[in-house]
Amino acid sequence: MPPMTAVRGFKDILPQEIPYYALVEDAMREMARRYGYEEIRPPVLERTGLFRRGIGEATDIVEKEMYSFQDPGGESLTLRPEATAGIARAVMEHGLLEGALAGGRALRLFAMGPMFRHERPQKGRLRQFNQLDVEAFGDKGPYIDAEVMALLMDILGRLGIGGLEARVNSLGCEVCRPPYRERLVGYLSSRREELCEDCRRRLGTNPLRVLDCKRPGCREVARSAPTSLDGLCPECLAHFDGVKGSLSALGIPFSVDPLLVRGLDYYKRTAFEVLSGGLGAQSAVAGGGRYDGLTALLGGPDAPAIGFAVGVERLVMLLKGMGGRKAPAVAFYLAPLTEQALPRSAGVARALRASGHSVAYDGEALRLKTHLKRADKLGAAMVLMVGEDELAGGYATLRDLRTHAQERVPLAELEAGKAPAVATGGITEGPLA
Ligand code: HAM
Repeated sequence: MPPMTAVRGFKDILPQEIPYYALVEDAMREMARRYGYEEIRPPVLERTGLFRRGIGEATDIVEKEMYSFQDPGGESLTLRPEATAGIARAVMEHGLLEGALAGGRALRLFAMGPMFRHERPQKGRLRQFNQLDVEAFGDKGPYIDAEVMALLMDILGRLGIGGLEARVNSLGCEVCRPPYRERLVGYLSSRREELCEDCRRRLGTNPLRVLDCKRPGCREVARSAPTSLDGLCPECLAHFDGVKGSLSALGIPFSVDPLLVRGLDYYKRTAFEVLSGGLGAQSAVAGGGRYDGLTALLGGPDAPAIGFAVGVERLVMLLKGMGGRKAPAVAFYLAPLTEQALPRSAGVARALRASGHSVAYDGEALRLKTHLKRADKLGAAMVLMVGEDELAGGYATLRDLRTHAQERVPLAELEAGKAPAVATGGITEGPLA
């Protein structure tokens, strides 16, 4: 039998990649703390109906990308393709919206974890991928629209990722979207022959998505299409002006993209994306928007809401491309040179770990050269050597692997857990302000 392999589009995140993920998650947590967003951890499995209703029947996700199956009890369940619908369900189910709906502050949440979409895998596109997800419920905006975008840009800024472009649009509301949709269908129908097969079908199901098609023929048609911005009702227009004003007040650079539409049907008014030139075809680092009324659609109270999600794997690709400074992975590598040195070396390893140091120790007496090779491969900052002379003199020889400076440290001190502090932790990226 050939050896087992992972499922296509499902990727192992290996130990050497974990520091990048940790960096991204730390940036999320730190910025959430500063902005006052609390963490929520909804399950990865939900009822299929939640996504069919929430994301929309005529979206690519629901039409062809969901991992849905019948569980042994006969119920149709789906691995979440995104987090928003599940979070909306959770906040309703647990009464978390009540304060915000009674005139209190908005409910501000974030979540992190894997999402599942049966898409064609390629660079930057996986079938299991991770998102950072931020949602704010109970505030009609427009200031909060700009706040979540500022939070997004600050997460990316903390990671030191540059060359990003924020684009915003307004998709209108239930008042102005139907007449706009009609005008758009009229225009697209007049150029039907130039559209790809998918878009001809979308004309009847989800005409706005035609504006988002990447095929050259469809792009050409989209260029002269009527846009949602041309037909906004006075309320949507005022809201969009408010969003743009707040973004400027917060110092967030952005451009208005009237062709920006999103792949999920729940959006109303504000829609936005952050793009990077460093990602190739899959250039969207993050996307989001306002989804007032999703909670009502799911059978709960009618709450305004806005949020976004960041693709973690795409951020990791960008971070890797930046070639971060490598911080030591482990502070001390303990190198016993003789059998007699083993017991005291083991004691030192345990004592240093107990006092908070990271220590690599294998319980083997080896030649110094072999130890140094191992320490180097591991990315250790310091080597502690214990040989015949050291045992006789009651000290260890401490060598700094970067400067090659050596000094003697009393074994008794090490056995009491005392050693110089060494900063470790994988990769140190960007300014980390
Ligand atoms: P989305 O635009 O579908 O929005 O996904 C957000 C981000 O997830 C994308 O910009 C991309 O970076 C990443 N992503 C999406 N699909 C894949 C994939 N197959 N492989 C790798 N990365 C991917 C949402 O999911 C909405 N729930 C965002 C939102 C939150 N809107 C309001 N609140």
